[in-house]
Amino acid sequence: MRVAFLNTKGGVGKTSSSLMSAEAAHRAGYSSAVIDADPQGSASSWAEAAEAAGTPLNFSVTVANRATLAKTAEKSTVDFLFIDTAPNDPAIIDAAAAAADMVVIPTGTTIADMDRAMQTYEAMTTPAAILLWRVDPRHQLYKQSREMLLDADIAVFTTAIPDRQEINRAWHTDLSGARLHGYDEVITELSAAMRVLTD
Ligand SMILES: Nc1ncnc2c1ncn2[C@@H]1O[C@H](COP(=O)(O)OP(=O)(O)OP(=O)(O)O)[C@@H](O)[C@H]1O
Ligand SMILES: [Mg+2]
Repeated sequence: MRVAFLNTKGGVGKTSSSLMSAEAAHRAGYSSAVIDADPQGSASSWAEAAEAAGTPLNFSVTVANRATLAKTAEKSTVDFLFIDTAPNDPAIIDAAAAAADMVVIPTGTTIADMDRAMQTYEAMTTPAAILLWRVDPRHQLYKQSREMLLDADIAVFTTAIPDRQEINRAWHTDLSGARLHGYDEVITELSAAMRVLTD
């Protein structure tokens, strides 16, 4: 299954979610990999840092640009391929969505973030769902965001990713000791969605 993490907005957890999901898929017994389609190269730097520390990631991270993305995704034989994308780059976003079976749009829960996520969602032709990210489950904003999406008939993951400094600190580490903070549920929900899509 090929999954693109994208949002026209930056800093909403695309890279963290790509890597955490790849680790979660690995722990669930699937083969996984990441394609880094962001010229900033954050996912690749993460992989390089983990490797340099002598504790490589449990999955590969391959660089692609908008010209090579489709071929790179096609060649992959892993169970779960996650594509990390650049914000504000329509060409990369379109290429990633086209190469994917499913699009996941991570987003914060402020009004501005939700606006952008919903716009990104509406522009998709590939099946897509929103992943609420850095949430405080007790906060009103979280409940309002979920209701707003349901009212607009927009697909949203039942799982939400909590705001955790631990995830922030896991940056550039091998992730094998990290708690998954909901990304295990993301894999479960993606597997279920894939079964529906292929039915
Ligand atoms: N669940 C979380 N709780 C708290 N901080 C988080 C969480 N997930 C990621 N972060 C932090 O939030 C910041 C933004 O995350 P990330 O880099 O994954 O977003 P991005 O969408 O890939 O950004 P960009 O658009 O620049 O590529 C990073 O500093 C990251 O460590
Ligand atoms: Mg990123």
